[in-house]
Amino acid sequence: MTLIRRHKIAAIPADGIGPEVIDAGLEVLQALSARASDIAFDVTAFDWGTDYYKRHGEMMPKDGLHQLKPFDAIFFGAVGAPDVPDQITLWGLRLAICQGFDQYANVRPTRILPGISSPLRGQEPGDLDWVIVRENSEGEYAGQGGRTHRGMPEEVATEVAIFTRVGITRIIRYAFRVAQSRPRKLLTVVTKSNAQKHGMVLWDEIAAEVAQEFPNVTWDKMLVDAMTARMTLQPESLDTIVATNLHADILSDLAAALAGSLGVAPTANIDPERRFPSMFEPIHGSAFDIAGKGIANPVATFLTACQMLDHLGEGDAAARLMKAVEEVCAAGVMTPDVGGTATTREVTDAVIGAIRGSNL
Ligand code: IPM
Ligand code: MG
Repeated sequence: MTLIRRHKIAAIPADGIGPEVIDAGLEVLQALSARASDIAFDVTAFDWGTDYYKRHGEMMPKDGLHQLKPFDAIFFGAVGAPDVPDQITLWGLRLAICQGFDQYANVRPTRILPGISSPLRGQEPGDLDWVIVRENSEGEYAGQGGRTHRGMPEEVATEVAIFTRVGITRIIRYAFRVAQSRPRKLLTVVTKSNAQKHGMVLWDEIAAEVAQEFPNVTWDKMLVDAMTARMTLQPESLDTIVATNLHADILSDLAAALAGSLGVAPTANIDPERRFPSMFEPIHGSAFDIAGKGIANPVATFLTACQMLDHLGEGDAAARLMKAVEEVCAAGVMTPDVGGTATTREVTDAVIGAIRGSNL
């Protein structure tokens, strides 16, 4: 008798193109489980997001985290809508989950996929193959600060970045582990410690301390401004990158653009200690301008599903999905954002077809 490994997935499609790409992602997961009969996904969908907010005055119920806690992973679409302030939608759902579940490692792999062209001159698949590890629990997104004298000429606002020894140490250690698991064993630690002389200098010091634990990883330091130039001019010199919440936010958009499109960029919000479910989402956001048109690029969500499968211990299924996506991209079945003419449906069907036919 085959033992079936069942994974409980909470799907939160939320806003804009979120439902379109999550539907596509769920179909692909079902195709993987049909292909390998020992994997099953029990999916529960949650209708939280901006529509829910308009009906209930909150982005998710008060016990939302409690409802999510028993799941093995969260498969998340996108939040944000043109008619509700971003800080409500974001802090009410996505950041509430990331922070409530202490998903302190945000992992953003970036590669040039076959068939997709990079704006970088002469770059081919393989020349750009990075993993950006973003600190996801503190730093510039700590939510500390305030405003006084509202509306007065002397109005002030503070936005305080928080850097703790615990927070820095755990993310840098995680990044060293990621670097160690990759063939090149190469880590670049990004800060702005020339100008910001407290928190960023602490990053540098802790990086040097943690590096002692990883003698087989080669590491270097970059200032974030110089890093943008290095990513553009010497992409092949980089492999794993770790940076603060805001710096890595900015660098990951640059990375996605250099790899061809935000439409193919995945991300994982990981609790490395596995106390809570981790959350997997495409980076692109809700993209209301194309919502409902059937042309959203599902590739970022498929690659996000690969990260989820890896996290769930389903490395073979992750590899099978990755290979299917690569085949479909190489065959030119792509949505308009990456220069193709295919719809979300067509790309999804092609990937499902490739999974069925795969001999992996
Ligand atoms: C991302 C996004 C978010 C972030 C926005 C929507 C707040 O840009 O996931 O990179 O900055 O974290
Ligand atoms: Mg961003």
